[in-house]
Amino acid sequence: MSEPLLDVRNLSTSFVNGSTETTVVDDVSFSIALGHTLAIVGESGCGKSILSLSLIRLIPDSARTRGEILIGGEDLARVSSERMRQIRGGKIGMIFQEPMTSLNPIMTVGAQLSEALKLHFPDLTTAERQQRVIEGLRRVRLPAPETQFHRYPHELSGGMRQRVMIAMALACEPDLLIADEPTTALDVTVQAEILSLLRDLQQDTGMAVILITHDLGVVAEFADEAMVMYAGRIVERGEVGAIFSDPQHPYTIGLMGSIPQLGNQDRLLEIEGTVPALSAMPPGCRFAPRCVFAGPRCSDQSPAPREVTAGHAVACHFAPLEDHA
Ligand SMILES: Nc1ncnc2c1ncn2[C@@H]1O[C@H](COP(=O)(O)OP(=O)(O)O)[C@@H](O)[C@H]1O
Ligand SMILES: [Mg+2]
Repeated sequence: MSEPLLDVRNLSTSFVNGSTETTVVDDVSFSIALGHTLAIVGESGCGKSILSLSLIRLIPDSARTRGEILIGGEDLARVSSERMRQIRGGKIGMIFQEPMTSLNPIMTVGAQLSEALKLHFPDLTTAERQQRVIEGLRRVRLPAPETQFHRYPHELSGGMRQRVMIAMALACEPDLLIADEPTTALDVTVQAEILSLLRDLQQDTGMAVILITHDLGVVAEFADEAMVMYAGRIVERGEVGAIFSDPQHPYTIGLMGSIPQLGNQDRLLEIEGTVPALSAMPPGCRFAPRCVFAGPRCSDQSPAPREVTAGHAVACHFAPLEDHA
């Protein structure tokens, strides 16, 4: 891979409640280069959102993060809060599942986008700012951007609101866009439109994208690399081609067996059992209780990630699978 833009090393995030500490992101390392899309995939509750929020230091007050988050020579785990605010919405843009929670309901679309620009480009005149906002709305293919400028979020459809969020996230030309389940709340057609819009914008800008999803169909279609997350840990990662042609972790294989059609949310993932509760995390491999291959070693030794081929790493005692066939 070319020189990484973002290099995350041994990132862990825990919630502290009195004397108990529960680790929801456990020793995660990865990197991503400009122009690449990295998908983070796993069932609900696996720690995908907390991981992405940890990167930009937006975790709840009761949480603590350890590790390094290196971007452009800075460690985001250590920069001042002031600097972190500049980076958020500057070098790093974010979009979330439900745009309504991130948009201010009592401000027009135009006013919100102008505000965001003002923060990062204080020297623009009001007219220049307005011009740029309208261009930004056009870029995300919002119909009649001059009209939308004056509308309030509740006057827009879910898909249009997500386009506004994308315009907001891209206003400052970030190097990295973090998109956490950006289309989960949208219907199928709109979902596909938003994902292809993101891909086109990425091609134009050359930014890196971290795409969080529970849908392997989305990964196959839109990502270059993927990390499969289970109960706070990365169980498999590699190029998307390698993961799909040669999945190695039993959890990945289970997810593959239940790929919903792109956008079809009726079919849920169908691996037997559920993600363990934080308070009852099994020792050893966290997937062992649901794993059809699990042996005695799995329930007491945590498997370390190992490369099965260059760039394709798996955290399973049985990997590579052919050794045990
Ligand atoms: N504010 C919080 N306090 C305690 N635990 C939390 C909090 N937010 C999330 N968690 C826990 O962290 C784990 C990971 O959650 P999350 O990152 O939202 O999962 P995902 O995005 O993969 O669905 C879950 O077990 C969840 O219950
Ligand atoms: Mg989430």
